[in-house]
Amino acid sequence: MAHSSSVLTTVDKADIERHSKLSDWWSKKGSLRGLHTFNDLRIPYIVNNVVLTDEKRNSSKPLENKKILDVGCGGGIVSEALAKLGAQVTGVDASSTLIEMAKKHSASNADLQYNQPTYQCTSIEEHAQTFVNYYDAVVASEIVDHVANVDLFLDSCVQTLKPGGKIFITTPNKTQLSRFFGIFVAENILKLIPKGLHKYEKFKSPKEVTEILHKYNCEVNEVYGLLFNPITENWWWSYFQFLWYALVATKLST
Ligand SMILES: C[S@@+](CC[C@H](N)C(=O)[O-])C[C@H]1O[C@@H](n2cnc3c(N)ncnc32)[C@H](O)[C@@H]1O
Repeated sequence: MAHSSSVLTTVDKADIERHSKLSDWWSKKGSLRGLHTFNDLRIPYIVNNVVLTDEKRNSSKPLENKKILDVGCGGGIVSEALAKLGAQVTGVDASSTLIEMAKKHSASNADLQYNQPTYQCTSIEEHAQTFVNYYDAVVASEIVDHVANVDLFLDSCVQTLKPGGKIFITTPNKTQLSRFFGIFVAENILKLIPKGLHKYEKFKSPKEVTEILHKYNCEVNEVYGLLFNPITENWWWSYFQFLWYALVATKLST
Protein backbone atom coordinates (compact mmCIF):
# COMPACT_ATOMS: atom_id res chain seq x y z
CA MET A 1 0.00 0.00 0.00
CA ALA A 2 1.41 3.37 -0.99
CA HIS A 3 -0.14 5.37 1.85
CA SER A 4 0.26 5.82 5.55
CA SER A 5 -3.31 6.66 6.56
CA SER A 6 -2.16 7.93 9.98
CA VAL A 7 -0.71 10.99 8.24
CA LEU A 8 -2.93 11.25 5.18
CA THR A 9 -6.61 11.98 5.15
CA THR A 10 -9.38 12.24 2.58
CA VAL A 11 -11.18 14.83 4.68
CA ASP A 12 -11.08 18.43 3.47
CA LYS A 13 -12.41 20.16 6.58
CA ALA A 14 -13.51 23.33 4.77
CA ASP A 15 -15.51 21.22 2.31
CA ILE A 16 -17.22 19.29 5.12
CA GLU A 17 -18.13 22.59 6.80
CA ARG A 18 -19.65 23.88 3.56
CA HIS A 19 -21.80 20.75 3.24
CA SER A 20 -22.76 20.79 6.93
CA LYS A 21 -24.26 24.26 6.55
CA LEU A 22 -26.77 23.03 3.96
CA SER A 23 -30.05 22.45 5.72
CA ASP A 24 -32.36 21.71 2.78
CA TRP A 25 -31.16 18.24 1.74
CA TRP A 26 -34.66 16.86 1.75
CA SER A 27 -36.36 19.75 -0.03
CA LYS A 28 -37.07 18.62 -3.58
CA LYS A 29 -37.22 22.29 -4.57
CA GLY A 30 -34.15 23.32 -2.56
CA SER A 31 -30.51 23.95 -3.39
CA LEU A 32 -29.75 20.22 -3.72
CA ARG A 33 -32.79 19.34 -5.84
CA GLY A 34 -30.54 18.09 -8.65
CA LEU A 35 -29.45 15.22 -6.37
CA HIS A 36 -33.08 14.12 -5.99
CA THR A 37 -33.81 14.01 -9.73
CA PHE A 38 -30.42 12.33 -10.20
CA ASN A 39 -31.80 9.30 -8.32
CA ASP A 40 -34.06 8.55 -11.32
CA LEU A 41 -30.92 7.60 -13.26
CA ARG A 42 -28.32 6.52 -10.76
CA ILE A 43 -30.46 4.13 -8.68
CA PRO A 44 -31.63 1.95 -11.66
CA TYR A 45 -28.05 2.08 -12.96
CA ILE A 46 -26.76 0.62 -9.67
CA VAL A 47 -29.51 -2.02 -9.62
CA ASN A 48 -28.80 -3.10 -13.20
CA ASN A 49 -25.10 -3.49 -12.49
CA VAL A 50 -25.38 -5.21 -9.11
CA VAL A 51 -28.30 -7.53 -9.84
CA LEU A 52 -27.66 -10.11 -12.50
CA THR A 53 -31.05 -11.67 -13.30
CA ASP A 54 -34.08 -9.95 -14.87
CA GLU A 55 -36.36 -11.78 -12.48
CA LYS A 56 -34.61 -10.24 -9.46
CA ARG A 57 -34.24 -6.82 -11.13
CA ASN A 58 -37.99 -6.68 -11.70
CA SER A 59 -38.86 -7.76 -8.16
CA SER A 60 -39.92 -5.27 -5.46
CA LYS A 61 -36.67 -5.77 -3.49
CA PRO A 62 -33.99 -6.31 -6.15
CA LEU A 63 -31.15 -5.38 -3.78
CA GLU A 64 -32.13 -7.80 -1.01
CA ASN A 65 -29.03 -9.36 0.64
CA LYS A 66 -26.70 -6.87 -1.02
CA LYS A 67 -24.43 -4.94 1.30
CA ILE A 68 -23.90 -1.45 -0.11
CA LEU A 69 -21.70 1.38 1.17
CA ASP A 70 -22.89 4.92 0.33
CA VAL A 71 -19.72 6.93 0.89
CA GLY A 72 -20.31 10.65 1.46
CA CYS A 73 -24.00 9.95 2.03
CA GLY A 74 -24.84 13.50 3.14
CA GLY A 75 -28.50 13.62 4.23
CA GLY A 76 -29.11 10.11 2.87
CA ILE A 77 -30.72 10.72 -0.55
CA VAL A 78 -29.01 7.68 -2.13
CA SER A 79 -28.94 5.56 1.06
CA GLU A 80 -32.71 5.74 1.50
CA ALA A 81 -33.44 4.91 -2.14
CA LEU A 82 -31.18 1.83 -2.00
CA ALA A 83 -32.61 0.68 1.34
CA LYS A 84 -36.14 0.93 -0.10
CA LEU A 85 -35.05 -1.61 -2.71
CA GLY A 86 -33.96 -4.01 0.03
CA ALA A 87 -30.21 -3.30 0.26
CA GLN A 88 -28.37 -3.44 3.59
CA VAL A 89 -27.04 0.11 3.35
CA THR A 90 -24.27 1.72 5.34
CA GLY A 91 -24.02 5.48 4.83
CA VAL A 92 -20.81 7.17 5.95
CA ASP A 93 -20.08 10.87 5.97
CA ALA A 94 -17.43 13.00 7.66
CA SER A 95 -20.09 15.52 8.75
CA SER A 96 -21.73 14.70 12.10
CA THR A 97 -24.48 17.27 11.33
CA LEU A 98 -25.40 15.44 8.13
CA ILE A 99 -25.24 12.01 9.72
CA GLU A 100 -27.68 13.18 12.41
CA MET A 101 -29.94 14.60 9.69
CA ALA A 102 -29.79 11.34 7.72
CA LYS A 103 -30.60 9.24 10.81
CA LYS A 104 -33.54 11.43 11.72
CA HIS A 105 -34.95 11.48 8.20
CA SER A 106 -34.68 7.70 7.72
CA ALA A 107 -36.25 7.04 11.12
CA SER A 108 -39.30 9.05 10.04
CA ASN A 109 -39.61 7.33 6.65
CA ALA A 110 -42.37 4.71 6.84
CA ASP A 111 -40.99 2.91 3.75
CA LEU A 112 -37.84 2.11 5.71
CA GLN A 113 -39.58 0.84 8.83
CA TYR A 114 -38.11 -2.66 8.46
CA ASN A 115 -34.88 -1.76 6.69
CA GLN A 116 -33.13 1.28 8.10
CA PRO A 117 -29.75 2.29 6.66
CA THR A 118 -26.92 2.27 9.20
CA TYR A 119 -25.23 5.67 9.37
CA GLN A 120 -21.74 6.43 10.68
CA CYS A 121 -19.88 9.69 10.99
CA THR A 122 -16.43 8.75 9.78
CA SER A 123 -14.03 9.06 6.87
CA ILE A 124 -13.71 6.31 4.29
CA GLU A 125 -10.14 5.52 5.34
CA GLU A 126 -11.24 4.91 8.94
CA HIS A 127 -14.20 2.83 7.83
CA ALA A 128 -11.95 0.77 5.56
CA GLN A 129 -9.81 -0.31 8.51
CA THR A 130 -12.70 -2.40 9.87
CA PHE A 131 -14.77 -3.27 6.80
CA VAL A 132 -12.29 -5.05 4.53
CA ASN A 133 -13.64 -7.11 1.57
CA TYR A 134 -17.12 -6.54 2.99
CA TYR A 135 -19.44 -4.78 0.54
CA ASP A 136 -21.04 -5.99 -2.69
CA ALA A 137 -21.01 -2.42 -3.95
CA VAL A 138 -19.64 0.99 -3.03
CA VAL A 139 -21.45 4.09 -4.26
CA ALA A 140 -19.27 7.22 -4.43
CA SER A 141 -21.70 9.66 -5.98
CA GLU A 142 -20.72 13.32 -6.15
CA ILE A 143 -17.87 12.99 -3.65
CA VAL A 144 -14.68 12.43 -5.68
CA ASP A 145 -14.47 16.20 -6.30
CA HIS A 146 -14.87 16.97 -2.59
CA VAL A 147 -12.18 14.81 -0.98
CA ALA A 148 -8.66 15.88 -0.05
CA ASN A 149 -6.79 12.89 -1.50
CA VAL A 150 -8.49 11.01 -4.35
CA ASP A 151 -5.85 8.28 -4.44
CA LEU A 152 -6.34 7.40 -0.77
CA PHE A 153 -10.10 7.81 -1.16
CA LEU A 154 -10.37 5.30 -4.02
CA ASP A 155 -7.89 2.91 -2.42
CA SER A 156 -9.99 2.92 0.77
CA CYS A 157 -13.26 2.44 -1.16
CA VAL A 158 -11.78 -0.55 -3.01
CA GLN A 159 -10.48 -2.09 0.22
CA THR A 160 -14.05 -2.27 1.55
CA LEU A 161 -15.27 -4.11 -1.57
CA LYS A 162 -15.47 -7.90 -1.84
CA PRO A 163 -13.53 -9.28 -4.82
CA GLY A 164 -16.04 -9.11 -7.68
CA GLY A 165 -17.79 -6.16 -6.01
CA LYS A 166 -18.53 -2.95 -7.93
CA ILE A 167 -17.69 0.66 -7.33
CA PHE A 168 -19.97 3.35 -8.79
CA ILE A 169 -18.68 6.85 -9.23
CA THR A 170 -20.46 9.93 -10.52
CA THR A 171 -18.58 13.21 -10.68
CA PRO A 172 -17.93 16.23 -12.90
CA ASN A 173 -15.27 15.81 -15.58
CA LYS A 174 -12.26 18.13 -15.54
CA THR A 175 -12.89 20.24 -18.64
CA GLN A 176 -13.42 23.90 -19.40
CA LEU A 177 -17.05 23.01 -20.20
CA SER A 178 -17.62 21.50 -16.75
CA ARG A 179 -15.94 24.54 -15.22
CA PHE A 180 -18.33 26.86 -17.06
CA PHE A 181 -21.59 24.90 -16.88
CA GLY A 182 -20.96 22.79 -13.75
CA ILE A 183 -19.76 25.69 -11.62
CA PHE A 184 -20.56 29.09 -13.12
CA VAL A 185 -23.93 28.30 -14.70
CA ALA A 186 -25.09 25.71 -12.12
CA GLU A 187 -24.15 27.86 -9.12
CA ASN A 188 -24.89 31.39 -10.33
CA ILE A 189 -27.53 31.14 -13.03
CA LEU A 190 -29.54 27.96 -12.48
CA LYS A 191 -28.87 28.05 -8.72
CA LEU A 192 -28.92 24.30 -8.89
CA ILE A 193 -25.90 23.93 -6.62
CA PRO A 194 -25.10 26.11 -3.59
CA LYS A 195 -22.50 28.77 -4.36
CA GLY A 196 -18.88 27.87 -3.63
CA LEU A 197 -19.52 24.13 -3.21
CA HIS A 198 -17.41 23.07 -6.20
CA LYS A 199 -13.75 23.79 -6.85
CA TYR A 200 -12.52 23.21 -10.39
CA GLU A 201 -9.04 22.23 -9.16
CA LYS A 202 -10.55 19.17 -7.50
CA PHE A 203 -12.41 17.85 -10.56
CA LYS A 204 -11.03 14.57 -11.93
CA SER A 205 -11.23 13.22 -15.47
CA PRO A 206 -12.38 9.63 -16.16
CA LYS A 207 -8.80 8.90 -17.25
CA GLU A 208 -7.35 9.98 -13.89
CA VAL A 209 -9.96 7.98 -11.96
CA THR A 210 -9.42 4.94 -14.21
CA GLU A 211 -5.64 5.03 -13.67
CA ILE A 212 -6.06 5.10 -9.90
CA LEU A 213 -8.61 2.27 -9.95
CA HIS A 214 -6.29 0.12 -12.09
CA LYS A 215 -3.56 0.66 -9.53
CA TYR A 216 -5.89 -0.76 -6.87
CA ASN A 217 -6.78 -3.90 -8.79
CA CYS A 218 -10.03 -2.79 -10.41
CA GLU A 219 -11.21 -3.19 -13.97
CA VAL A 220 -13.22 -0.26 -15.30
CA ASN A 221 -16.32 -1.70 -16.98
CA GLU A 222 -17.84 1.43 -18.47
CA VAL A 223 -17.91 5.20 -18.44
CA TYR A 224 -21.04 7.09 -19.50
CA GLY A 225 -21.65 10.77 -19.90
CA LEU A 226 -24.41 12.51 -17.98
CA LEU A 227 -26.30 15.63 -19.03
CA PHE A 228 -28.75 17.82 -17.17
CA ASN A 229 -31.77 19.50 -18.73
CA PRO A 230 -32.13 22.90 -17.02
CA ILE A 231 -35.79 23.21 -18.05
CA THR A 232 -37.13 19.86 -16.81
CA GLU A 233 -34.29 19.60 -14.26
CA ASN A 234 -33.86 15.93 -15.18
CA TRP A 235 -30.69 14.04 -16.01
CA TRP A 236 -30.08 11.79 -18.95
CA TRP A 237 -27.38 9.46 -20.24
CA SER A 238 -25.17 10.58 -23.10
CA TYR A 239 -22.02 9.63 -25.00
CA PHE A 240 -20.91 13.19 -24.25
CA GLN A 241 -18.69 12.88 -21.16
CA PHE A 242 -17.34 16.41 -20.93
CA LEU A 243 -19.68 17.67 -18.21
CA TRP A 244 -20.56 14.86 -15.80
CA TYR A 245 -19.84 11.16 -16.02
CA ALA A 246 -20.66 7.87 -14.31
CA LEU A 247 -18.04 5.16 -14.05
CA VAL A 248 -18.46 1.59 -12.85
CA ALA A 249 -15.55 -0.72 -12.03
CA THR A 250 -15.16 -4.23 -10.64
CA LYS A 251 -12.63 -5.27 -8.01
CA LEU A 252 -10.66 -8.19 -9.38
CA SER A 253 -9.86 -11.24 -7.25
CA THR A 254 -6.52 -10.92 -5.51
C1 LIG B 1 -22.14 16.62 -2.81
S1 LIG B 1 -22.40 15.67 -1.38
C2 LIG B 1 -23.02 14.17 -2.09
C3 LIG B 1 -24.10 13.51 -1.26
C4 LIG B 1 -24.61 12.17 -1.77
N1 LIG B 1 -23.53 11.26 -2.13
C5 LIG B 1 -25.53 12.35 -2.97
O1 LIG B 1 -25.02 12.30 -4.10
O2 LIG B 1 -26.73 12.53 -2.80
C6 LIG B 1 -20.76 15.18 -0.82
C7 LIG B 1 -20.76 14.59 0.57
O3 LIG B 1 -19.48 13.99 0.83
C8 LIG B 1 -19.11 14.22 2.17
N2 LIG B 1 -17.65 14.05 2.25
C9 LIG B 1 -16.70 14.82 1.65
N3 LIG B 1 -15.47 14.31 1.92
C10 LIG B 1 -15.66 13.20 2.67
C11 LIG B 1 -14.78 12.22 3.22
N4 LIG B 1 -13.47 12.31 3.03
N5 LIG B 1 -15.29 11.18 3.92
C12 LIG B 1 -16.64 11.08 4.10
N6 LIG B 1 -17.52 11.99 3.61
C13 LIG B 1 -17.05 13.03 2.89
C14 LIG B 1 -19.63 15.63 2.45
O4 LIG B 1 -19.79 15.89 3.83
C15 LIG B 1 -20.97 15.60 1.70
O5 LIG B 1 -22.02 15.19 2.52
